[in-house]
Amino acid sequence: MAGLRTAHTADLDVATLRAARALLDGVFGDEMTDADWEHCLGGLHCLAHEDGELVGHAAVVQRQLLHGGRALRTGYVEGVAVRADRRGRGHGARLMAEVERVVRAGYDLGALGSTEEAAGFYARCGWVRWEGPTSALTPEGIVRTPEEDGWIYVLPAAAALEPEGELTCDWRAGDAW
Ligand SMILES: CC(C)(COP(=O)(O)OP(=O)(O)OC[C@H]1O[C@@H](n2cnc3c(N)ncnc32)[C@H](O)[C@@H]1OP(=O)(O)O)[C@@H](O)C(=O)NCCC(=O)NCCS
Repeated sequence: MAGLRTAHTADLDVATLRAARALLDGVFGDEMTDADWEHCLGGLHCLAHEDGELVGHAAVVQRQLLHGGRALRTGYVEGVAVRADRRGRGHGARLMAEVERVVRAGYDLGALGSTEEAAGFYARCGWVRWEGPTSALTPEGIVRTPEEDGWIYVLPAAAALEPEGELTCDWRAGDAW
């Protein structure tokens, strides 16, 4: 039986958080860093279960993205993964439908940084590739992040967006986007 649970980090017990981290470690291997895990914390976790086992995860955390001179309350999506042996069964789509509900109800827009492998999946889920330049608001000021150009996807919600314009993320440790 498949099930979906959405809960804040604060409401998940240690065992559940460990299982989510283990799932991400299993899917991403050495590429999954402590900073990447940190980026999943402090917001909502969408957890997909099959026969009582955790098989999928997506987090939505609040960030501020700057665009068109405004700071936009953004539901930023992190740690999207479905266990390799449970893919192709709709878990990913169900997780992203829940993410979309959260973003549309609570944020100006949704955003995420995609891998090459997952870009088609996000497009299939209705997310739109950001065509304009990307940057990060660092302690030294706004710095372009050209390596991220073309890999940021957004889900427009309440905010009016100019997709050719610049999109700037707030500052954090680890990968900016
Ligand atoms: C991407 C991922 C989350 C998809 O999960 P999933 O449970 O297999 O996805 P679903 O079965 O719900 O598929 C939903 C739809 O997306 C499509 N899809 C799934 N993965 C896709 C991909 N990598 N590229 C293009 N389309 C994809 C499916 O064909 C399906 O389309 P359909 O509804 O027309 O049949 C999963 O493959 C995964 O964990 N990948 C490795 C980790 C990763 O890349 N995470 C994203 C990091 S940014």
